[in-house]
Amino acid sequence: QSLKRYNTFGIDVKARWLASFGSSDELGELVDWAAGRRLLVLGGGSNVLFTEDIDGLVLRNAVKGIELLHEDEEYVYVRAGAGESWDGFVQYCIARDWAGVENLSLIPGNVGAAPMQNIGAYGVEIRDVFWELEAWSLAERKVYTFTPGDCEFGYRESVFKGRLKGQFVILNVVLRLSKDPVFHTSYGAIREELGDREPSIRAISEAVIRIRRSKLPDPAEIGNAGSFFKNPTVPGEVFARLKERFPEMVGYPGLNGEVKVAAGWLIEKCGWKGFRRGDAGVHARQALVLVNYGQAKGKDIYALSEEILHSVQDLFGIVLEREVNIIN
Ligand code: FAD
Ligand code: EPU
Repeated sequence: QSLKRYNTFGIDVKARWLASFGSSDELGELVDWAAGRRLLVLGGGSNVLFTEDIDGLVLRNAVKGIELLHEDEEYVYVRAGAGESWDGFVQYCIARDWAGVENLSLIPGNVGAAPMQNIGAYGVEIRDVFWELEAWSLAERKVYTFTPGDCEFGYRESVFKGRLKGQFVILNVVLRLSKDPVFHTSYGAIREELGDREPSIRAISEAVIRIRRSKLPDPAEIGNAGSFFKNPTVPGEVFARLKERFPEMVGYPGLNGEVKVAAGWLIEKCGWKGFRRGDAGVHARQALVLVNYGQAKGKDIYALSEEILHSVQDLFGIVLEREVNIIN
């Protein structure tokens, strides 16, 4: 079975078996059937790079449903099935005036994968509104509840991408959203887009959507998985030294005097922006996004990422870390 339709990079690899599940019972049956064979859970396939065929069972998560669990004066607690579309869920919340996820509008993929890398954009991460999730343990065949502390969220990280990788299947996620919104407009681009408009949940969502459409490639047109690398963090002294050599270098102050450097800037400075070899390339408007113009293999994209990594290391002494999940 080709997985081309099931990953936004549009990589044409095959899975030995492909199935979907809508509940933990169905998941249990499929895991029984697979009996020790390789298993891979897939959401929308928007953060993976397949580098070879999968000799195992690929499980597509189709756990649906959005439910208001309870509410108090300030908050609503909403549960969404892991197989719901993330952006569909965001729009559902905006339509009900529930605040907290509007800055995360238009991020591709499913609800279940959102905590996986603690998705973030325009000053907000899912951990800011995360309440708990339920996940099925493949080893113990039972459902566990994970609190924010259990998830060990970090920048584009969680326990599911790290220490417990491949061990749990996320079934649903509960978010705590505000009835009384606090707007996050610290990103200059959002303020510019808003112009004279009063911030509102909907206005921010619309601004984010316009910004994203202006620079990120639409996977329906060009294969990609968003940012391929993370923005690296360097000690303040290192940044200061680099800044002497490269005065235009872009960085944002973080905790403990560290600086988060814009990887897109580093990659652009190395001359990669708009680069293309065969069908593998670097997006012309966002150097952090690697693209597949059609027939690229996962290995071509991976080899390109390796070259980029080395050239950034040679010029700046900074080692980039991949953000996309490499499946090999
Ligand atoms: P998949 O790609 O299907 O899976 C990702 C990983 O999670 C895989 O390792 C998979 O095995 C695992 N997984 C998936 N579902 C489950 C589950 N239910 N249980 C356990 N493991 C699971 N990300 C951001 O954070 N911010 C952005 O601004 C952003 N912009 C993007 C823009 C574009 C154009 C694209 C293509 C991607 C962007 N991304 C962004 C990355 C991506 O959208 C997110 O990481 C998203 O959460 C991935 O969801 P998915 O369902 O497609 O996950
Ligand atoms: N920049 C360049 N050249 C480029 C790209 C960026 O100089 O080719 C500079 C920009 O000028 C800007 C800075 O880098 O000053 C930051 O760029 P941008 O605002 O586009 O954001 P980013 O740091 O490249 C991150 C996330 C995105 C997220 C946006 C908005 C990571 C790895 N990426 O990108 O997430 O949408 O911020 O918050 O943190 C994703 O994870 O897939 C993703 C798209």
